[in-house]
Amino acid sequence: MHEVGSTLASLPASRTGGLLRRSSVLTAHLRFCAAVAVTRPGNYFSRLYQAIAHSPNIFAPASAPAHDIFRLSMFVLAITAGIFLVVAGLLLYVVVRYRQRAGDDALEPPQVYGSNQIELSWTVIPVLIVMVLFLTTVRVILEIEHTREPANALNVVVIGHQFWWEFRYPKYGIVTANELHVPVSSAENPMPTYLKLLSADVNHSFWVPRLAGKTDLIANRVNTMWIQPEAAGLYLGQCAEYCGLQHAHMLIRVYAQSPADFAKWVKQQQKPAVQDPSVAEGRAIFERNACINCHTIAGTVATGRFGPDLTHLMSRATIASGTVPNTPANLRNWIKDPDHFKPGALMPAMKLDNHDLNALTSYLLTLR
Ligand code: CUA
Repeated sequence: MHEVGSTLASLPASRTGGLLRRSSVLTAHLRFCAAVAVTRPGNYFSRLYQAIAHSPNIFAPASAPAHDIFRLSMFVLAITAGIFLVVAGLLLYVVVRYRQRAGDDALEPPQVYGSNQIELSWTVIPVLIVMVLFLTTVRVILEIEHTREPANALNVVVIGHQFWWEFRYPKYGIVTANELHVPVSSAENPMPTYLKLLSADVNHSFWVPRLAGKTDLIANRVNTMWIQPEAAGLYLGQCAEYCGLQHAHMLIRVYAQSPADFAKWVKQQQKPAVQDPSVAEGRAIFERNACINCHTIAGTVATGRFGPDLTHLMSRATIASGTVPNTPANLRNWIKDPDHFKPGALMPAMKLDNHDLNALTSYLLTLR
């Protein structure tokens, strides 16, 4: 998974917005892939394989709602593919069969008007097809939405922010960011996770294609959805509603873990923040700067909620909402200038000198 992270991380951050930005990132990525493929083919294929295995693939459902959606899309695809084949086939036949030939009389062919049979059939058949598609879709939507929440379901509150995700586990008193941990669900031991979706600012949309469909996070409104991953592993997702400049860097990482591993993770997250006296200076720098207005570190004066909770920052694989791997160098560069990775990120550069920057980074690196 780090392989993929570093592939993403190696992409240069362009400063232009929108489509231009996406296309330049794509070009850079293709150039990068080509370079790797030529110099280290084995490495290239292992990276490619990992990228595909972890990609947010709509064709590889691994959770009950995603299976329902997948079956529905295959059904719709089959019907529309059938229509395409009939229409394109007839068209092709007519084009070939009645093409202009030498010796044609150049007269207009006979025109047909007002055939009730033909007009009825091209009205009624499409109406029936649309009704079938509509009713099947409604059935699947209602089935997913009206599933009764079992008593042992895990509840997580998801709050969308520009440009990151806040995950709160009310029952466990855990707050984390961008990396959602949930238990794996099995037939013998069903453990779905129910998400309550809120927004702190503009509209966002929570979308992890292998686990469920999209659901919007809207300010002043509570939306819900549920996921039920069947296999342990990492599921990638993405904010699916344009929410500002760094919308594309609002990635979601869902770690589905065995119930035992999940319990271990919960225990670890419930621990108070590490208090390492060797980094007291860095902690003091953190506490006397504006960091504390936006971030929380349990057991310190920092109780801000505008930015991610940093109590167990180092238990996360990535920073900046999945944008780069959580390495000491990236962490330092992020604090030094968040715009370096995410132009338009709402975290300000604190203009610390090198000494303070190093001390602060060392402190954050102890927050396991
Ligand atoms: Cu949040 Cu797009």
